[in-house]
Amino acid sequence: MNILLLGSGGREHAFAKALSNSPGCDQLYISPGNAGTAQCGINVGLDLNDFEAVGQFCLENHIELVVPGNEDPLVAGISDALEDFAAERGIHLGVAGPDKWASQLEGSKQFAKEFMMKYGVPTAAYQNFNADNLAESDAFLESLTPPYVLKADGLAAGKGVIITHDLLEAKATLKDMILGARFGAASANVVVEEFLQGIEISVFVVSDGIDWHILDSAKDYKRIGEGDTGPNTGGMGAISPVPFADESFMHKVKERIVIPSLEGLRAEGHPYRGFLFLGLMNDHGDPKVIEYNVRMGDPETEAIFPRLKTDMVELLNGVAHGNISQVPFSIDPRTAATVFLVSQGYPGSIQKGFEMSLPVGIEADQYLYHAGTALDGDRVLTNGGRVLAVTSLADTLPEALQASYNLVDAIRFEGKAYRRDIGQDLLI
Ligand code: AMP
Ligand code: GLY
Repeated sequence: MNILLLGSGGREHAFAKALSNSPGCDQLYISPGNAGTAQCGINVGLDLNDFEAVGQFCLENHIELVVPGNEDPLVAGISDALEDFAAERGIHLGVAGPDKWASQLEGSKQFAKEFMMKYGVPTAAYQNFNADNLAESDAFLESLTPPYVLKADGLAAGKGVIITHDLLEAKATLKDMILGARFGAASANVVVEEFLQGIEISVFVVSDGIDWHILDSAKDYKRIGEGDTGPNTGGMGAISPVPFADESFMHKVKERIVIPSLEGLRAEGHPYRGFLFLGLMNDHGDPKVIEYNVRMGDPETEAIFPRLKTDMVELLNGVAHGNISQVPFSIDPRTAATVFLVSQGYPGSIQKGFEMSLPVGIEADQYLYHAGTALDGDRVLTNGGRVLAVTSLADTLPEALQASYNLVDAIRFEGKAYRRDIGQDLLI
């Protein structure tokens, strides 16, 4: 079948590789894509906010499956829109992503918290504030133990969470978010919540609305600096699985979080189709939800997909049409280590357009995923802050890390930067 994949990051290159390797994939289109996805299919420049235009493209190019990589089109309702488009024209078109209602799990922090309360999913205690009840916020903040966690309700490009130890600053920041529109309309509502202690971990689920699988755990490294210092980034590396996410922990995740969440969505009349990303805190062995995302993570996908031993076209078509139970599914028990190469200066200002030298042949258990790259004829140029993700699979975490860092050494471009301590905190 012909498939349209939406997005342009390392995650989308991982999707593109897995989809194009499947015998079920005839023509893969990627919009907008990058230099890596161009090796897997045809990059096309669609306006992803114009669902009618995306539908027309699908019609003209006989697309039967649309795979949204990132959250924006999902939260804006692309699944519902394309389903309506297909029904009106009597064409066969499935979307491997949740509907607009379920996508509010990521699109609105307040919605997600209310959903978790309703279905008994463990999460931090919270209260929601807006211009109408702002007067009560000082008292609520005073009742919390620092640090204070303030979350803009809407999408804010991953920047909408502010954590501060200072009570006065928390009070002032909350007012600025709401009255000063610090994150525009996204912070007209703000969730203020209890700070959870512990180590963060991500768990991924794939569901077709009826059946589901857990894709295992991963840990990403968000800060630019070694030892988790400096500003947040889009992700500097990832490890999968996470050693402390043992059978007992994953059992709790399944019983306390995955099942009530998916059953809750079904009870609301919105059975979940797609990938559900659980951002969790391991609170002394008990998982609590920090956030839901309605898509795969980046760079977690680059670590998890090499472990996924399933046909991606069959899986995603199954997601769109409610039949993943027919698709053989298994996860490689080995460990994946992903290291991101970024441009000097990232996440601040960077220069792009540097020619890259990439190794020609790489080992069977190694993967090179493009993120911020572009093609100029035959040359591959840097084209963003996060440039390339390097993943290796091995029996142990130290071996996987060693293999990835060896490959990192073999890649050259001006301003190449990366963290040398990915996974070190997990080597106990
Ligand atoms: P989010 O955008 O919800 O993922 O939040 C961004 C980051 O803030 C998370 O990845 C956590 O590191 C941190 N964070 C969010 N909520 C909490 C919380 N309640 N307790 C501790 N850390 C949190
Ligand atoms: N790695 C975090 C995210 O994809 O949101």
